[in-house]
Amino acid sequence: MDIADKKAIVLGGTSGIGLKTSLMLVEKGASVVAVSRDPSKAGDVPDGIRLAALDTRDLDAVEAFFNAEGDIDILVNSATGGSRAFGPFMEMDMKGFQGSFDKLWGYANVLRYGVSHVRETGSIVIVSGSPARKPKPGQIALSAVGSAVEALARAIAAEIAPKRINVVSPGIIDTPMVALSGDDRTKHYQNVTKSHLIDRPGDPAEVAKGIIFAIENEFITGTTIDVDGGWLATQ
Ligand SMILES: NC(=O)c1ccc[n+]([C@@H]2O[C@H](COP(=O)([O-])OP(=O)(O)OC[C@H]3O[C@@H](n4cnc5c(N)ncnc54)[C@H](OP(=O)(O)O)[C@@H]3O)[C@@H](O)[C@H]2O)c1
Repeated sequence: MDIADKKAIVLGGTSGIGLKTSLMLVEKGASVVAVSRDPSKAGDVPDGIRLAALDTRDLDAVEAFFNAEGDIDILVNSATGGSRAFGPFMEMDMKGFQGSFDKLWGYANVLRYGVSHVRETGSIVIVSGSPARKPKPGQIALSAVGSAVEALARAIAAEIAPKRINVVSPGIIDTPMVALSGDDRTKHYQNVTKSHLIDRPGDPAEVAKGIIFAIENEFITGTTIDVDGGWLATQ
């Protein structure tokens, strides 16, 4: 797909991976609506990006949003959705575990009401994460949600063809999702990537390039692209 002059909507497009994707889409000539609950966090954005407020968990608001936007060519969802629960499953606060699925419900809401507005030639990308297929200790909730995200895309792909849908699965990426700063941040990322084949956190631009690849390449649908520093191949 030639991205120039296309209309794109990026849920979670105001921070981290989604913001970088929005910026790359604009550089390639698309007009982008970057969406989140508090879009002011994006700061100054180029002319090609319009910011919009929406909570992907609010089904009625999601439906109204897509009805108002009309036809689109590119739909990306990287919104985290809500909180994420960590820790052993047998010690899990089940409200926290269930809350982690806000990401899945947000993705499902957006697909349910967004896909019908995507043109037949259009492309959809949603974002899972390496724990989906290779959880580390304490990542049971992330794994269950990420696996469901990947299964959702794979299952929907046949139903919505020729519209394409793919998943991009990041490893550890240095984004505002981690609130630490200074030395604490550096040490955290060193610690969580030291066993990886590529022993550093990824840059959001490296994941955004994976998303752009999934959009531009018209021969892929229903699959998952890993941008993970070798997480899955690490022993
Ligand atoms: N960073 C990593 O290491 C990593 C690893 C694996 C997978 N991932 C996945 O990659 C995706 C992007 O993560 P990121 O690192 O770029 O996170 P981020 O920098 O925290 O960005 C998350 C974005 O989602 C928006 N958002 C969250 N909940 C929302 C909701 N209910 N409705 C609408 N927008 C919402 C946030 O804005 P508001 O707060 O204003 O709503 C923000 O724009 C997520 O799905 C995450 O699970 C990230």
